[in-house]
Amino acid sequence: MATTLALTALGLSVVLGSLFQPLQSNAVFATQRPAEWPVISQNLLLVTAHPDDESLFFAPTILALQNTPAVNLFHVCLSNGNAEGLGATRKIELERSLDVLGIARTKRWLVEHADLQDNQTAFWDADVIATVLKPYILNLKIDTILTFDGKGVSSHPNHMSLPAGAKALIKSLDTPVRLFSLVSSSLLVKYVSILTVPFHKLQIYSYRALQLYESKILDIIGIWFPDLLNPAIPRQPDANAMPMFISGYQQYQQALASMQAHESQLVWFRYLNVAFSTYLWVNSYLEVIV
Ligand SMILES: *[C@@H]1O[C@H](CO)[C@@H](O)[C@H](O)[C@H]1NC(C)=O
Repeated sequence: MATTLALTALGLSVVLGSLFQPLQSNAVFATQRPAEWPVISQNLLLVTAHPDDESLFFAPTILALQNTPAVNLFHVCLSNGNAEGLGATRKIELERSLDVLGIARTKRWLVEHADLQDNQTAFWDADVIATVLKPYILNLKIDTILTFDGKGVSSHPNHMSLPAGAKALIKSLDTPVRLFSLVSSSLLVKYVSILTVPFHKLQIYSYRALQLYESKILDIIGIWFPDLLNPAIPRQPDANAMPMFISGYQQYQQALASMQAHESQLVWFRYLNVAFSTYLWVNSYLEVIV
């Protein structure tokens, strides 16, 4: 009994302690590139589908990248979210939300396109997405795109269409552009909110330790388990650098404030979503090889 209590108290204090730590991120992906690539810029484009995606799903990313030196973050939202006829209202709400999240008005756009309409059952055509995004990539000299993955976090087909659109776009370009997709968690992980924070922080710390001591660790492993390290597989400099952004309590409050800008969306189940969603705290990405 006493042991259980002590362990529970310890667990709680680890979770709560990690929440009040400042924002942690692993943004090396934004500044590291394969050696053969020219360093053109460090301009990132976040692509979302509807007003409120930026706040419900991508707030840790936006807040962390605003604090990352030498990185420019731009944002394009591909519809006004008119599924229930609220497009005009939601457009204004998006402006207010992005003001809270701190993306400058000169760095954000809302696209309204006949073939990219908010629709719970419609997939968006990859070539239309590519055509619409292309001018932004070229004019802003974007070299990294961030968007949903094929599961779209909430399985909304509009979200799910975005990585395919980004892939089609990248294939049509002459200069290399990298694509990272926000990892959709399993249902369980998605709604354990704050419990995920210490685990992700541990991942970031162990990555950093590995960066510091990697060569020594590999030497030791190599001595004891020579077969484990296959020199035929070239090591990418950033092979372990999973992009990850973990908000502190202050950023979490900022994400909540941006969500409150989306008044028309604040029905009761959204409150539940906001209260338990891990995406208000943590964003992790995988690179999509195009
Ligand atoms: C949504 O998309 C479906 C096809 O996926 C279509 O039948 C329906 O008319 C669309 N709804 C609206 C409001 O455009």
